[in-house]
Amino acid sequence: MGDPLRIGVVGCGVISSAYLETAGRVPDLEVVAVADADPTRARHAADTHALRAVSLDELWADDEIEWVLDLTTPGAHAEVALTALESGFSVYNEKPLCATTADARQVLDAAADAGLAVGSAPDTVLGTGIQTARAALEAGAIGRPVAATATMACAGHELWHPHPDFYYAPGGGPLFDMGPYYLTALVHLLGPVESVQAVARRPRDVRTIASGPRAGTEVPVEVATHVTALVEHASGTVSTLVMSFDAPSSRAMPIEVHGEEGSMVVPDPNTFDGAVEVRATEGDWTTVPVRAGYPGAARGFGLVDVARSGDRRTGRASAEVALHVLDVMECVVAAAEERRRVDVASTCLVPPLVPLTG
Ligand SMILES: NC(=O)c1ccc[n+]([C@@H]2O[C@H](COP(=O)([O-])OP(=O)(O)OC[C@H]3O[C@@H](n4cnc5c(N)ncnc54)[C@H](O)[C@@H]3O)[C@@H](O)[C@H]2O)c1
Repeated sequence: MGDPLRIGVVGCGVISSAYLETAGRVPDLEVVAVADADPTRARHAADTHALRAVSLDELWADDEIEWVLDLTTPGAHAEVALTALESGFSVYNEKPLCATTADARQVLDAAADAGLAVGSAPDTVLGTGIQTARAALEAGAIGRPVAATATMACAGHELWHPHPDFYYAPGGGPLFDMGPYYLTALVHLLGPVESVQAVARRPRDVRTIASGPRAGTEVPVEVATHVTALVEHASGTVSTLVMSFDAPSSRAMPIEVHGEEGSMVVPDPNTFDGAVEVRATEGDWTTVPVRAGYPGAARGFGLVDVARSGDRRTGRASAEVALHVLDVMECVVAAAEERRRVDVASTCLVPPLVPLTG
């Protein structure tokens, strides 16, 4: 292994602890400093994980840092990524890559001009769950894929997140918040998307925060909270996507893929592992032995993958895939609003499979 990738973290909210735990246990990553617009959050994260908290200005000027890990809320992703690039750092954004494709294209153009790299969550697709499913599909476990279903149905993140406002603002909603996991997994499994049709609903105007210091506070709902889409992949496979913050409960499988010779259950794409099951047209369900992906992966393995690449720049949690997924999500919104089928202009290369040895 080479030197660890030296990281500066911007944004020390709820999800930062998952990344900082990963960085604390893998030799591939070293957190140089953490910063947040709210210095108390940076100090809390630094104290909890024995790190150095700095101001944003200090972080931008820190020449030990190679990559900035942007864990701010979606509306800030473009601004933080552009500042990171201007400061000479490559940048890895939490999902969605940016709130809009226009912002994301600006970030990718700035990176190209500066000769720097951009990566993006979700990196769950690099775990053994999605990677094993992909390896099995490519080995013909269910024959040629014909159709898939992807379902995320829950009651809404205001039930557990202390500051859920951003989930109900542009760049949020079940589509932009959870869609990246499901659509990125579908792209890794079935390839890029060519067109979409959709119906979306916003049944409630406000949501009530259920936990934390703001419990009882109402949050305005500015985005659709139940989205159903038909997603046509360039391969000819069609996926049915349901992303909902309006489902009190669900027993639906996260993702199923149906092929000419069998069906496959794919584990939750918001996790890194889980059993892949297949059933031939005749026969019983069997579990596919783990055969690809990073065992024991967790949030941050997108950067571990960068650290293990030869050039410390190229990672499988690629901005190209993230931009395509963002484009697909915007097309879903347009298709629902305009009640028509929308062609997706972008495409992407599906990153290479992660060998099981990692
Ligand atoms: N919470 C989760 O379970 C979860 C899971 C996976 C991914 N994510 C993603 O992670 C990101 C952050 O989510 P979160 O739940 O940690 O949010 P959060 O609101 O808990 O934390 C965001 C932090 O970013 C800081 N921040 C905002 N704008 C900033 C700016 N311009 N400069 C510096 N700091 C800024 C805020 O002060 C805050 O501390 C989002 O993109 C979200 O989609 C969250």
